[in-house]
Amino acid sequence: MRNTIPDIIIAIDGYSSTGKSTFAKLVAREFGFLYLDSGAMYRGVTLRAIESGFVREDNSLDEDAIIADLPALDLHFERGEGKTLLYMGARCIEEEIRTMKVSGLVSPVSAVAKVRAWVDAKLRSFSEGGRVIMDGRDIGTTVFPGAELKIFMTADPDVRARRRYDELLSKGQAPVLEEVKKNLQDRDYMDSHRETSPLRRPEDSFLLDNTHMTMHEELVWILGLIQGRFSLLDPPELSC
Ligand code: DC
Repeated sequence: MRNTIPDIIIAIDGYSSTGKSTFAKLVAREFGFLYLDSGAMYRGVTLRAIESGFVREDNSLDEDAIIADLPALDLHFERGEGKTLLYMGARCIEEEIRTMKVSGLVSPVSAVAKVRAWVDAKLRSFSEGGRVIMDGRDIGTTVFPGAELKIFMTADPDVRARRRYDELLSKGQAPVLEEVKKNLQDRDYMDSHRETSPLRRPEDSFLLDNTHMTMHEELVWILGLIQGRFSLLDPPELSC
C-alpha cells in the first residue's frame, strides 16, 4: 500500500485529435507529473523543414537535407504556466507548429526512420528521472515499452474533427471543417501504415473512448486505474 502516486511513466497513445494532450496536461497538473508532447517534436522538425526550404513545391520532402540538419536542430521543452512549451533555440514555436500547413506535412516527416530515432532519443533524455506523462503514437510500443501505465485513446471521428476545428478557430485560424476531417483521416491512415513504429494499440494498454466523456469523468477514470494498480491508500483529491 502506498500513500502517493509513484514516479512512474504514463504513456498515452491514440488517433489524432482524441484529446490526448488535453487529458495528459490535466493529469500532469493534478498529479504533479511532467507533461511531454511527442507530436510537438515531429511538428518542430516539420516547421524547420518548411522554413529551411527542405519541402519542395510539390510538397515532397528532401529527406537527406532534413536528416543532415538534425544535429544542428535545438528543439527542447520549457515549462510555462501550467504547460510545457516547445522551443527551437530561443524561440517559442508552440503556435507555428499547430498550423494546417505543418499538420499537412507532419505525417510524412514523422515517417522518416532517422527522424524518429532522433526524436526518440530526445524524448528519452527529457524524461530522465521519471514522473512523466507523454502522449503520441508509439510511446507505449517504442519510446517507453516498459511504461508502468499505458492508455490508448480513441473517439468518434466526427467528434474529433469538431474538436480540432473548434481548437483552430479559438486560436484565430480560419479552418474548414471538411478539410480538418480529411487531414485527421489522412494522418490516421499514414500514422497506422508507415513502416517504422506505426500507430498500434499496445497489448498491455487500457482503452479510453472519450466520445461521450467530460474531462472530469476522464480524470476519475484514470484515478481509479492508478488507485487499483498501485494500491494507493490515500488517492489525491481532484481539483476539477
Ligand atoms: O499529436 P499530434 O497530432 O500533434 O502529432 C502530429 C503528428 O506527429 C502525427 O500525425 C504523427 C506524428 N507523431 C508520431 O508519429 N509519433 C508520435 N509519438 C507522436 C506524433
